Amino acid sequence: MDHFIYRSGALHIEGVNAHRIVERFGSPVYVYSAQTLRHHVAALQHAFAPVAPLICYSVKSCSNLSVLQLLVRQGCGMDVVSGGELQRALAAGARPETIVFAGVGKSADEIRLALEHGIFMFNAESEAEVERINSVAGQLGRRARIALRINPDVADAATPDKTATGGRHTKFGIPLTRALPLYRPGRYSHLDVCGVHIHLGSPIPDAATYVAGIAAIERLIYQVEGEGGRIDTVNIGGGFPASYVSGENQLTLAEMGRVISAKLAALHAQGKRIVIEPGRSISANAGVLLATVEYMKQGWDCGIAILDAGMNTLLRPAMYGARHVMWPVADAGTHGPWHLVAERAGAPVEAIDVAGPICETGDLFAQARPLPPLAAGDVLAIFSSGAYGMSMASQYNTRPRPAEVMVDGEVAWEIRAKEAVADLLALEMAGLRHAQDAG
Ligand code: LLP
Repeated sequence: MDHFIYRSGALHIEGVNAHRIVERFGSPVYVYSAQTLRHHVAALQHAFAPVAPLICYSVKSCSNLSVLQLLVRQGCGMDVVSGGELQRALAAGARPETIVFAGVGKSADEIRLALEHGIFMFNAESEAEVERINSVAGQLGRRARIALRINPDVADAATPDKTATGGRHTKFGIPLTRALPLYRPGRYSHLDVCGVHIHLGSPIPDAATYVAGIAAIERLIYQVEGEGGRIDTVNIGGGFPASYVSGENQLTLAEMGRVISAKLAALHAQGKRIVIEPGRSISANAGVLLATVEYMKQGWDCGIAILDAGMNTLLRPAMYGARHVMWPVADAGTHGPWHLVAERAGAPVEAIDVAGPICETGDLFAQARPLPPLAAGDVLAIFSSGAYGMSMASQYNTRPRPAEVMVDGEVAWEIRAKEAVADLLALEMAGLRHAQDAG
């Protein structure tokens, strides 16, 4: 369920006409729907209600401070993977005791920052990292809570190779068979090694994959507890799907939540805290990228629309071959939610390549996509762009990153200003002066 709806001849984000947003804030622009974000949190809370999880939103999927603040107000904790994300979460008002810190490469400074703020838990990815956290905690005179991220060698066939993380050939986690000794009581003087973490990939469309992962760590938990250890937290990671083609994700989420909760029921009944780390299932369908056609040109085989947004703005199609539904904002004949009308409208279509301005062949949003005839100046909506859109955007080709806008009901406001070229040059100006002085 989201709030991107065609009516009165144009796409509306909640109560606001998408054309008005481009007029006010420029193009390209990322637009998020506050009601959709709230709705997705509620859907997850409902789907996983039997195990009452701490929902740690995966900050990397869409890390704008205003998005984080909204989610904190809905009761979310945060899953961070760097000192920078930790500072974002804290700036947005997240309580430290709701923050988990994952990632394979935590520096001593990042560990120190997290310990000083008293976060809920580290998800540690290697024996060396556990030792480093132990030593930093010792220096600070603190105790750290640790979940070991286990690599159970479980993968979902439908998860893209580049984002599958639960298999034995990836860099993630501690191999299941090597974990038990690290839980031995008293092994680390400044740590409570009291949690188990898995994150099997992103997205994972099949609940059976989670069930297999949980079965693997369940056996480990019973071994740990059989040897006198105590596990109080079970974190099953993120990867719950979003909808890139239709509105089916909420149904899938409800069903996944039901099956996964049933598998977690015994652990929950023993008083263990369940944690989930959803990213895209909250943010992907809550965001849209609006971009404008700069030029229409005729290629050898089909028309090509050149947009003012490219792989620098939304990397997913170029990096993963990801398919995003796109459709013009203006459409007189179209009424209803985007996933029912976009690409299914009766309008005459032609096959168009949709590309960006970047000097790379891979800077292509869609190839031979059936779209209504386009003209320069038309605004195109690229749907399901809320997750891993702006957070992966770059300044490649010295193109400033776009503005981000939040819509709540009838109101739209800027939550990140468009960058200026001067911002991009600023950090390099001192070097220029140094060279002039030296010369
Ligand atoms: N927890 C951990 C430890 C993760 O590494 C991730 C994502 C998540 C949670 C959240 O996964 P989600 O619920 O958002 O699927 N850039 C790629 C996705 C990379 C995911 C990285 N880790 C994409 O655009 O598809």
